[in-house]
Amino acid sequence: MMIRTVLYISEIASQDNKTICEHVSEIADTSKTNNRKKGITGVLAHDNEHFLHILEGESPILEGLLTKIESDQRNKNLQVMFDVIWAERIFQEWKVFDKTSVEHSQRFDQFLKLNMDSLALLDDAQFEVISRFAENVFH
Ligand SMILES: Cc1cc2nc3c(=O)[nH]c(=O)nc-3n(C[C@H](O)[C@H](O)[C@H](O)COP(=O)(O)O)c2cc1C
Repeated sequence: MMIRTVLYISEIASQDNKTICEHVSEIADTSKTNNRKKGITGVLAHDNEHFLHILEGESPILEGLLTKIESDQRNKNLQVMFDVIWAERIFQEWKVFDKTSVEHSQRFDQFLKLNMDSLALLDDAQFEVISRFAENVFH
């Protein structure tokens, strides 16, 4: 089966005076169950300003989820950077990025390597955000 893989970046928009960590743990609670049911795998990471989310799954299912996330008040200015179809997944499940997981960092690197072509098409600002995540969050 072909798998659609999307990487997007969005800006964190704080709601109801909640901290980023509170937002992330709420999002994680809903997403873990939803994504398992829908066969969606990937990783959600964040720094102080941005979410970076890699999602893998069947195309129409991802489409529906992206529409939902785009209108979620907890983030804004969602920009899809990669949107590709592959023969297989890189991630085995859906998780919030875990700094202590070597496996997560390795899979992110593998993801970037596989996407070198798309990486070359990003504009400077987009490339900078991805590089910052690669250096500061994933390693
Ligand atoms: C950055 C971000 C990432 C999200 N990722 C997911 C996700 O992977 N899966 C999911 O079900 N909901 C995710 N959500 C939450 C959805 O926007 C939505 O609130 C949730 O799916 C519940 O929707 P429902 O009440 O219509 O079922 C995310 C929200 C944000 C802000």
